[in-house]
Amino acid sequence: MKKDDLMDKIVSLAKRRGFVYPASEIYGGIAGFYDFGPNGLEMKNNLKKLWWSYMVRKRKNVVGIDGAVITHKDVWKASGHLESFSDPLAECKTCKRRFRADHLQEEGFDVCPNCGGVLSEPRDFNLMMYTELGVVEGEKEVAYLRGEACQSIYLDYDNIIKTSRQKLPFGICQIGKAFRNEITPKYFLFRQREFEQWDLQYFVAPEDMKEAYDFWKEERMRWYKTLMNNEENLRFRQHADDELAHYAKVAFDIEFNSPFGWKELEGIHWRGDWDLSRHGHFSGVNFTYTDDKGQSFIPHIVETSGGVDRSFLFFLIDAYNEEIVKGENGHEETRIVLKLNPNISPVTVAVLPLSKKDELSSLADSIYNELSSSFNVQYDHTGSIGKRYRRQDEIGTPYCVTVDFQSLEDNKVTIRDRDTMKQQRVDVSRIFEIVNTKLKDSLNI
Ligand code: GAP
Repeated sequence: MKKDDLMDKIVSLAKRRGFVYPASEIYGGIAGFYDFGPNGLEMKNNLKKLWWSYMVRKRKNVVGIDGAVITHKDVWKASGHLESFSDPLAECKTCKRRFRADHLQEEGFDVCPNCGGVLSEPRDFNLMMYTELGVVEGEKEVAYLRGEACQSIYLDYDNIIKTSRQKLPFGICQIGKAFRNEITPKYFLFRQREFEQWDLQYFVAPEDMKEAYDFWKEERMRWYKTLMNNEENLRFRQHADDELAHYAKVAFDIEFNSPFGWKELEGIHWRGDWDLSRHGHFSGVNFTYTDDKGQSFIPHIVETSGGVDRSFLFFLIDAYNEEIVKGENGHEETRIVLKLNPNISPVTVAVLPLSKKDELSSLADSIYNELSSSFNVQYDHTGSIGKRYRRQDEIGTPYCVTVDFQSLEDNKVTIRDRDTMKQQRVDVSRIFEIVNTKLKDSLNI
């Protein structure tokens, strides 16, 4: 399959099957913003739940926060973003379209890709988004939408150290929105203006930085490799000195081999004492930490910062498969199937009564009711069973439970496995245990 075709197919499936819609679509859309539909939301929540469990719940020395997205303007002076958080912008002198100058250079354009016009010299364009707070015209205060979610963690560091009884080394995690006025939102969810990040900020003594950095770099790669099908599509790439963000001394990206090239999925940043020193200086709060040996220092930080939406997109790409199979009429047909890890799939079990007859519906209802307190279950009684299987394959449902007339006599149903398409006839009382065991077995982290 051509790479461009794959992207088109993913975007089309995402809309057709209720994963992702363009935001404000009925008014023509708004570039760089997307809404998650019923299946997309379930899948995104599953990803976030897996991340949270791995990064926070399973570690005694990691806690979580959920910070406000609108922040005091001085946060961004201290962080260096008002000064340095910009991309090079080039404008076409003829059609006035704007581009990322560095991307044009990478793609080999020295004129406007749209109309061939002459391009302006690149200038720095700050990506921070702001709003105004207050009620009196002329006295409104500028406040910034978070350009990177992690700043909330530094703002809460002092409260956490005083209230959580954590000692270095320890981590603070957050999953939250960030906003950037990107010059060219692109590639669907890949580069948006509103997106979500999952961040860990790990606070350590300066001499422990190297060990902590190496540990988290490998941990994060391990997480992605365990959950994706094609681990050869993941790699590390170290940032050259001239591309390092203003806060980073060392940075490695975890990259994914996407249809539009190897692209950043998550950044592992050696932030050192940049953040707490700067916030200490600008706010007047003293962030000095004294350890058990009596050493005093500003804690140093290892950051792992990934994009939830980018991960979502790359997980969809990783899972997308087309297979030639025998259809209901015996002819060959293409089966589109999302081979998502069952713990990520938006729907875990589909309950499919073969007919709408009352007796079958009431057995199917009772199965639905029992399973839906533990899993996301979809109930589908429309269309032929073959069409229903195909619909579930397209959203990656790992298990379909079919209730047929025989079920009324023997209290048994068939469970169909998405990947092998094999069916197993089991007693109704065993469905929960079978699905639960399969979910656990497919999570090796
Ligand atoms: N706190 C560090 C930080 O924000 P970053 O490399 O700018 O670092 C971290 O962003 C992650 O956030 C990226 O690896 C990417 O997955 C995601 N991300 C960044 N900009 C994005 C955008 N415009 N749209 C979607 N995801 C984005």
